[in-house]
Amino acid sequence: MQLSTKHLLGIKDLPASDISLILSTAQQFKEVLQRPIKKVPSLRDVTVVNLFYENSTRTRISFELAEKRLSADTINFTTSSSSVSKGETLLDTVHNILSMKVDMVVMRHSASGAPHFLAKHLPHTAIINAGDGINEHPTQALLDAFSIEEKIGTLEGKKIVLVGDIMHSRVALSNIYLLKKMGAEVMLSGPPTLIPNYAKEALGVQVEYNLAKALKWCDVANVLRIQLERQQQVLFSSLREYNLAYGISSKLLASINKEIVIMHPGPINRGVEIDSEVADSHQSIILQQVENGVAVRMAVLYLLSGKKGE
Ligand code: CP
Repeated sequence: MQLSTKHLLGIKDLPASDISLILSTAQQFKEVLQRPIKKVPSLRDVTVVNLFYENSTRTRISFELAEKRLSADTINFTTSSSSVSKGETLLDTVHNILSMKVDMVVMRHSASGAPHFLAKHLPHTAIINAGDGINEHPTQALLDAFSIEEKIGTLEGKKIVLVGDIMHSRVALSNIYLLKKMGAEVMLSGPPTLIPNYAKEALGVQVEYNLAKALKWCDVANVLRIQLERQQQVLFSSLREYNLAYGISSKLLASINKEIVIMHPGPINRGVEIDSEVADSHQSIILQQVENGVAVRMAVLYLLSGKKGE
């Protein structure tokens, strides 16, 4: 089987069969990563550029490691050390890099739609979206799905609540698209000012402003960071009050009388959206998410490289 797409720009237009193929391929790569020798030759002679126009810890390192585990040649680009500061456009930068015989582009950008723009101008180069503005973060949603299935089995019929700053979260949007396509039920919980009015009807999700009720309903809570850097105006009174109303604490979890799985895409703000005791507890799979990110990104790179079946 092959993917139906040449690029991974988002989950919105990705068929469920492609999602299943990526997750099953990631399972095979996860097995490779348990071996003493974790490297396979699948992407030998393939060169990948990691083009990060916005800060990243997990996604950038995870892609680079995935490329190295697949034996690809990698180049890392960050804006601070590039000629972007001299006025070079995104398209000129990428054309110059591709002229050095680069095969695939992984890109993070603060502008929503930047990878779609690149894909339009470079239809023959595989473009992978590593997070674009407040739009999508497809590999995060894929690794979240992989981690849920690993922990509690198939997504079909599972109840997942996304908690926090839904309005500014590309992780939330990609998760909603993916979970719905795979048959899960999705609920959003957070302050009304951080949940878009259109979410219920346009995205087919439930909305519950009372966090305790949302947690009682769910099997899994995926907790999101407040994206202060993307907020143009004050949308809640203070971080302290946010923590009191929407922070996940062990006291709150104890009050719901059931054990749920706690996830977070990172970076976490301890004491704001999640307390340390919860983040580091046995219910939390935050570090398993990070671990699974490498196998999931290996699967995406491999399936988009055109090397499958060679
Ligand atoms: N989850 C995530 O995208 O983290 P980074 O911003 O560190 O890549």
